Amino acid sequence: MADLVNLTIDGVPVAVPKGTNIVDAAKRIGNDIPVFCYHPKLRQVGMCRMCLVEVGTPRMDPATKQIVKGEDGKPVIAWMPKLQTACTTPVSEGMAVRTQTPQVLAARKDILEFLLTSHPLDCPICDKGGECPLQNLTLAHGPGMSRFEYEAKHHDEKHVPLGDLIYLDRERCIQCSRCIRFQDDLADDHVLQFHERGRNMEIVTLSDPPFNSFFSGNTTDICPVGALTTADFRFKARAWELQGTPSLCTHCPVGCNLTLNTRLETHTGGYEVKRVMPRQNEQVNEIWLCDKGRFVHHFTRAADRLTHPLLRNAGGTLVESTWEAALQRIADRTLGKPITGIAGDRIANEDAYLFAGLLRTVASKGSLISMAPAMATYYADLARAYGVGKDTDFNQLGKGDVILLVNGDLEEAAPVWFLRLRQAVVTRGARLIVANDHTTKMHRYAGQTESYQLGNAANWASTRAAVLAEELKGARHLLIVFSDEKLSTSGVRSLAISLASVLVQSGHAGKSNSGLLPLYPHGNTQGVSDMTSPQPWPDRAEAVWLIGVGEGEGVPQAPFTIVQDLFQTRLAEQADVVLPALSFAEREGTFTSGDRRVQRFYQALPAMGQAMPDWWIVQEVAKRLGATWNYQNTAQIFTEISQHIPAYAGLSYEAISHTEDQWPLVGRGDLYYGGTVYDNTGGLGLRYPADAERADFHADVHLDTPPEVTIEAVQRVRRRLYEDGELIRRSKVLAAHIVNSVTEVPQAA
Ligand code: SF4
Ligand code: SF4
Ligand code: FES
Repeated sequence: MADLVNLTIDGVPVAVPKGTNIVDAAKRIGNDIPVFCYHPKLRQVGMCRMCLVEVGTPRMDPATKQIVKGEDGKPVIAWMPKLQTACTTPVSEGMAVRTQTPQVLAARKDILEFLLTSHPLDCPICDKGGECPLQNLTLAHGPGMSRFEYEAKHHDEKHVPLGDLIYLDRERCIQCSRCIRFQDDLADDHVLQFHERGRNMEIVTLSDPPFNSFFSGNTTDICPVGALTTADFRFKARAWELQGTPSLCTHCPVGCNLTLNTRLETHTGGYEVKRVMPRQNEQVNEIWLCDKGRFVHHFTRAADRLTHPLLRNAGGTLVESTWEAALQRIADRTLGKPITGIAGDRIANEDAYLFAGLLRTVASKGSLISMAPAMATYYADLARAYGVGKDTDFNQLGKGDVILLVNGDLEEAAPVWFLRLRQAVVTRGARLIVANDHTTKMHRYAGQTESYQLGNAANWASTRAAVLAEELKGARHLLIVFSDEKLSTSGVRSLAISLASVLVQSGHAGKSNSGLLPLYPHGNTQGVSDMTSPQPWPDRAEAVWLIGVGEGEGVPQAPFTIVQDLFQTRLAEQADVVLPALSFAEREGTFTSGDRRVQRFYQALPAMGQAMPDWWIVQEVAKRLGATWNYQNTAQIFTEISQHIPAYAGLSYEAISHTEDQWPLVGRGDLYYGGTVYDNTGGLGLRYPADAERADFHADVHLDTPPEVTIEAVQRVRRRLYEDGELIRRSKVLAAHIVNSVTEVPQAA
């Protein structure tokens, strides 16, 4: 427990950890001291003066060095002659603070009056209107009138693009520097700066391309006015028209918590996602999102979504059909024949569980289930066994801890983990060791770097495992982050075994804040592996059924193929039956993040056409193959998962929907303090224990000799955040950012 400091704020006693500032101390007792430049996640700068308060400390007798007491026996307070900025003043023992005196109230009025002299007051057309700290604080604390000439206002050309994702309205900017501090201090992208002085001071972008950062959307959340808006949302809706539904991002292993803001569109008569906002989860994404998670959502209402089942007719053409005809065709063609099922790693746990059940217990003997990408089949079991301990909290990583990052580009593969683990290193002093065949952004913060030739991560790790383990014995905690990129299947198995051995031999296996952290390609790679215990897929099969596989490479050839997806993908073009599935935004379910947190997402949009949830489709086929299933919803399936998948024992929708107050308190009426991040009403999720945490676990049970690593002379791709794909291609704002993955040919060392 940190040392506590006692003080009073407007006479109310409060005890807070040493080092807390007055704004945060007041917040803990529900006293909202207005702020503009201060943000609880950013460095304090004391620039706006909105938080002025009266501060006093106990009077000390200079002779005796004792606190002077009054007649009432209480310490006499010596009030400072001038108002103090509450955001930059740390609390001290016995301090007294006054936040409601005439001087304080007058100062707030004056500051607002000054701020508004250069503000355009164009609230009716401003995207921030309705959720603007400046608007709200002016109503609460501002003067009713201005003594300044309205005509003398500063005028600038409006809406200057700061890059293609973010627009700047210079006359709305109150020069608080929150955007600059976020980009400099948290993202380490030095892309924004102030230019000029006084009234002419404005935000400019320094980078080429402009505002070059994966995290730019966060600045629009924390900007306390409508100076920064996104190209995605500007002029699209008013804040009060939007409904907010808790959801999850599926585009990388972090599992960021989102709120989908939707609205009924009169021109189409349907609901649409108007914007994606962060939802606070201090254990997952805090209050941040990367730009992919924020701007990729357009696929949910893309005009080319599959809306009807399709059947290949006698002439060889895919034609629209009814569900009944499509399901019956599948039953007719697969009854008595083995089916090879391949589950994509963005489908929900409930879908994957039923799919595995169908293939193992309903479909004909010889059926099997695999997953795409196939690579995950070779190491997800090791991540489950040696993954981070159940109570791991990245916010606690710091001095004495070691983060070992092998073969992965953390920022490209898991952007919000980049933000969080970088903080552990640069702010809290964790030691970072990076091993890779090329330089990544994380190399900037590494205390030690190791390199190997392209494609040789596994060989490097097996050679170094024993030495590493010895060196890392003294670490307080050991987090090992790794990726499968550019490896062969034997390579990734070998790498995961070597890294798990480092954990075991250095004494960190099964401990909190320690363990493997795989940089999986998508948001439910771990969950789909947990649900299916996937087998490698064969080259050929009698019937193949692909669910959510997208453009999966190298899927088996078969005389009969079913593709279940959102779009008419290249694979769907070849299929005999195409089944339209609902997107994550149109249904409920759970995903399991790369650090094994099981989280819920909820329905935000109505169904597209006749598309159905994956689990429903699987059940309808199962029934036609003879099963007596009768699942009504995902909650019922999850209950069964908790009974049949040992790692999920004890989990329930109720438990993972649990929410509680998180610090900092943001997201409710607290726009002025934390920004437009949403409160978490959907659940904080729960991480299930790694196998290595279980009492009956034998630490080296999975650690068979690493397989002989074949350095295949095939091209392996380096994973990129904006890698081309079916979903990002349909984002109106991200399309210009798409990169083709760098393909490289590994060589033997
Ligand atoms: S653009 Fe917004 S966040 Fe940036 S300095 Fe101006 S008011 Fe502050
Ligand atoms: S960091 Fe990952 S999970 Fe979070 S918003 Fe970005 S892509 Fe989505
Ligand atoms: S000076 Fe304290 S909030 Fe700006």
